[in-house]
Amino acid sequence: MNKSQVDHVVVPGTFDPVTLGHMDVILRARRLFPRVTVAVAASVGKRGSGPTFSLDQRTQMIRETLVAEGCEDVAVEPFSGLLVEFCRVHGAGGVVKGLRAMTDFEYEMQQADLNSHLAPELESIFVMSSPEYGYVSSSIVREISSMGCDVSSLVPPNVNRRLMERFGSPS
Ligand code: PNS
Repeated sequence: MNKSQVDHVVVPGTFDPVTLGHMDVILRARRLFPRVTVAVAASVGKRGSGPTFSLDQRTQMIRETLVAEGCEDVAVEPFSGLLVEFCRVHGAGGVVKGLRAMTDFEYEMQQADLNSHLAPELESIFVMSSPEYGYVSSSIVREISSMGCDVSSLVPPNVNRRLMERFGSPS
Protein backbone atom coordinates (compact mmCIF):
# COMPACT_ATOMS: atom_id res chain seq x y z
CA MET A 1 0.00 0.00 0.00
CA ASN A 2 1.25 3.51 -0.80
CA LYS A 3 1.46 5.78 2.21
CA SER A 4 1.78 9.51 1.70
CA GLN A 5 4.68 11.47 3.20
CA VAL A 6 4.30 12.17 6.90
CA ASP A 7 4.54 15.88 7.68
CA HIS A 8 2.52 15.98 10.88
CA VAL A 9 3.09 13.60 13.80
CA VAL A 10 1.45 13.14 17.17
CA VAL A 11 3.45 12.37 20.32
CA PRO A 12 0.87 10.78 22.65
CA GLY A 13 1.07 9.90 26.32
CA THR A 14 -0.34 10.28 29.78
CA PHE A 15 2.46 12.63 30.87
CA ASP A 16 1.65 12.34 34.59
CA PRO A 17 3.86 14.38 34.77
CA VAL A 18 5.99 15.13 31.71
CA THR A 19 9.65 14.15 32.28
CA LEU A 20 12.93 15.11 30.61
CA GLY A 21 12.70 11.73 28.83
CA HIS A 22 9.36 12.75 27.28
CA MET A 23 10.75 16.16 26.35
CA ASP A 24 13.70 14.49 24.64
CA VAL A 25 11.27 12.48 22.46
CA ILE A 26 9.08 15.53 21.73
CA LEU A 27 12.06 17.70 20.75
CA ARG A 28 13.53 14.96 18.59
CA ALA A 29 10.17 14.52 16.83
CA ARG A 30 10.25 18.30 16.23
CA ARG A 31 13.66 17.97 14.58
CA LEU A 32 12.46 15.13 12.36
CA PHE A 33 9.02 16.36 11.26
CA PRO A 34 7.69 19.76 10.16
CA ARG A 35 4.68 19.65 12.49
CA VAL A 36 4.27 18.05 15.92
CA THR A 37 1.25 17.81 18.23
CA VAL A 38 1.53 16.42 21.74
CA ALA A 39 -1.65 14.51 22.64
CA VAL A 40 -2.32 14.28 26.38
CA ALA A 41 -4.57 11.32 27.22
CA ALA A 42 -7.39 11.84 29.71
CA SER A 43 -7.15 8.25 30.91
CA VAL A 44 -3.98 6.63 32.19
CA GLY A 45 -2.49 3.98 29.90
CA LYS A 46 -0.69 1.32 31.95
CA ARG A 47 -2.20 1.99 35.39
CA GLY A 48 -5.47 1.13 37.01
CA SER A 49 -5.52 4.11 39.37
CA GLY A 50 -6.36 7.68 38.38
CA PRO A 51 -3.72 10.23 37.42
CA THR A 52 -1.89 12.30 40.06
CA PHE A 53 -2.28 15.50 38.02
CA SER A 54 -5.49 16.56 36.30
CA LEU A 55 -5.71 16.58 32.50
CA ASP A 56 -5.57 20.39 32.60
CA GLN A 57 -2.47 20.42 34.79
CA ARG A 58 -0.67 17.80 32.67
CA THR A 59 -1.45 19.74 29.48
CA GLN A 60 -0.45 23.05 31.06
CA MET A 61 2.88 21.69 32.33
CA ILE A 62 3.87 20.56 28.82
CA ARG A 63 2.84 23.89 27.30
CA GLU A 64 4.89 25.79 29.92
CA THR A 65 7.92 23.58 29.28
CA LEU A 66 7.70 24.05 25.51
CA VAL A 67 7.44 27.84 25.89
CA ALA A 68 10.53 27.78 28.16
CA GLU A 69 12.33 25.81 25.42
CA GLY A 70 11.25 28.30 22.74
CA CYS A 71 9.13 25.63 21.01
CA GLU A 72 5.73 27.34 20.85
CA ASP A 73 5.26 25.79 17.38
CA VAL A 74 4.56 22.42 19.03
CA ALA A 75 0.82 22.12 19.76
CA VAL A 76 -0.39 20.45 22.95
CA GLU A 77 -3.95 19.06 23.01
CA PRO A 78 -5.83 16.98 25.57
CA PHE A 79 -7.78 14.01 24.22
CA SER A 80 -10.07 11.21 25.29
CA GLY A 81 -11.14 8.26 23.16
CA LEU A 82 -9.06 6.57 20.53
CA LEU A 83 -5.64 7.88 19.54
CA VAL A 84 -6.26 6.95 15.89
CA GLU A 85 -9.37 9.15 15.93
CA PHE A 86 -7.39 12.06 17.38
CA CYS A 87 -4.82 11.63 14.58
CA ARG A 88 -7.57 11.51 11.95
CA VAL A 89 -9.26 14.67 13.26
CA HIS A 90 -5.94 16.54 13.42
CA GLY A 91 -4.72 15.25 10.05
CA ALA A 92 -1.60 13.57 11.48
CA GLY A 93 0.00 10.74 9.50
CA GLY A 94 2.23 9.31 12.23
CA VAL A 95 2.59 8.60 15.93
CA VAL A 96 6.01 9.04 17.56
CA LYS A 97 6.87 7.25 20.81
CA GLY A 98 10.06 6.68 22.75
CA LEU A 99 11.42 3.22 23.55
CA ARG A 100 13.52 2.62 26.64
CA ALA A 101 13.78 -1.11 27.36
CA MET A 102 12.47 -4.45 26.08
CA THR A 103 9.53 -4.09 28.47
CA ASP A 104 8.50 -0.93 26.58
CA PHE A 105 8.90 -2.76 23.30
CA GLU A 106 6.27 -5.44 23.99
CA TYR A 107 3.71 -2.90 25.19
CA GLU A 108 4.39 -0.45 22.37
CA MET A 109 4.37 -3.18 19.72
CA GLN A 110 0.93 -4.28 20.87
CA GLN A 111 -0.39 -0.71 20.73
CA ALA A 112 1.20 -0.10 17.32
CA ASP A 113 -0.37 -3.32 15.96
CA LEU A 114 -3.78 -2.33 17.29
CA ASN A 115 -3.49 1.20 15.91
CA SER A 116 -2.40 -0.20 12.55
CA HIS A 117 -5.44 -2.49 12.55
CA LEU A 118 -7.74 0.45 13.33
CA ALA A 119 -6.02 2.90 10.95
CA PRO A 120 -3.69 1.21 8.42
CA GLU A 121 -2.71 4.59 6.95
CA LEU A 122 -1.22 5.74 10.28
CA GLU A 123 2.53 5.18 10.69
CA SER A 124 4.01 4.23 14.09
CA ILE A 125 7.49 5.69 14.54
CA PHE A 126 9.79 4.87 17.47
CA VAL A 127 12.86 6.71 18.71
CA MET A 128 15.27 5.07 21.13
CA SER A 129 15.45 6.98 24.40
CA SER A 130 18.68 8.87 24.97
CA PRO A 131 20.88 6.84 27.37
CA GLU A 132 20.65 9.42 30.17
CA TYR A 133 16.85 9.07 30.25
CA GLY A 134 16.63 5.29 29.85
CA TYR A 135 15.45 4.79 33.44
CA VAL A 136 13.25 7.90 33.72
CA SER A 137 9.50 7.42 33.86
CA SER A 138 6.58 9.40 35.26
CA SER A 139 5.89 6.63 37.78
CA ILE A 140 9.50 6.68 39.08
CA VAL A 141 9.30 10.49 39.35
CA ARG A 142 6.00 10.36 41.26
CA GLU A 143 7.21 7.60 43.54
CA ILE A 144 10.52 9.10 44.59
CA SER A 145 9.18 12.65 44.74
CA SER A 146 6.42 11.50 47.10
CA MET A 147 9.16 9.98 49.30
CA GLY A 148 10.92 13.34 49.61
CA CYS A 149 13.63 12.73 47.01
CA ASP A 150 14.93 15.50 44.73
CA VAL A 151 13.79 14.89 41.14
CA SER A 152 15.07 18.15 39.65
CA SER A 153 17.43 16.25 37.33
CA LEU A 154 14.55 14.18 35.90
CA VAL A 155 11.86 16.77 35.13
CA PRO A 156 11.68 20.33 33.73
CA PRO A 157 11.93 23.10 36.41
CA ASN A 158 8.22 24.04 36.24
CA VAL A 159 7.24 20.39 36.77
CA ASN A 160 9.65 20.15 39.69
CA ARG A 161 7.88 23.13 41.28
CA ARG A 162 4.46 21.46 40.85
CA LEU A 163 5.79 18.22 42.37
CA MET A 164 7.11 20.13 45.38
CA GLU A 165 3.72 21.83 45.79
CA ARG A 166 2.10 18.40 45.70
CA PHE A 167 4.52 16.34 47.75
CA GLY A 168 6.58 18.92 49.65
CA SER A 169 10.22 19.97 49.22
CA PRO A 170 12.94 17.29 49.27
CA SER A 171 14.37 16.67 52.73
O1 PNS B 1 2.05 7.44 28.60
P1 PNS B 1 1.57 6.13 28.07
O2 PNS B 1 0.94 5.29 29.15
O3 PNS B 1 2.62 5.38 27.32
O4 PNS B 1 0.44 6.51 27.00
C1 PNS B 1 -0.40 5.52 26.47
C2 PNS B 1 -1.39 6.13 25.48
C3 PNS B 1 -2.15 7.28 26.12
C4 PNS B 1 -0.63 6.67 24.29
C5 PNS B 1 -2.35 4.99 25.03
O5 PNS B 1 -2.93 4.41 26.16
C6 PNS B 1 -3.44 5.48 24.10
O6 PNS B 1 -3.20 5.67 22.94
N1 PNS B 1 -4.66 5.71 24.67
C7 PNS B 1 -5.80 6.19 23.92
C8 PNS B 1 -6.82 5.06 23.74
C9 PNS B 1 -6.46 4.21 22.55
O7 PNS B 1 -6.36 4.67 21.43
N2 PNS B 1 -6.27 2.91 22.79
C10 PNS B 1 -5.89 2.00 21.74
C11 PNS B 1 -4.39 1.97 21.52
S1 PNS B 1 -3.59 1.28 22.89
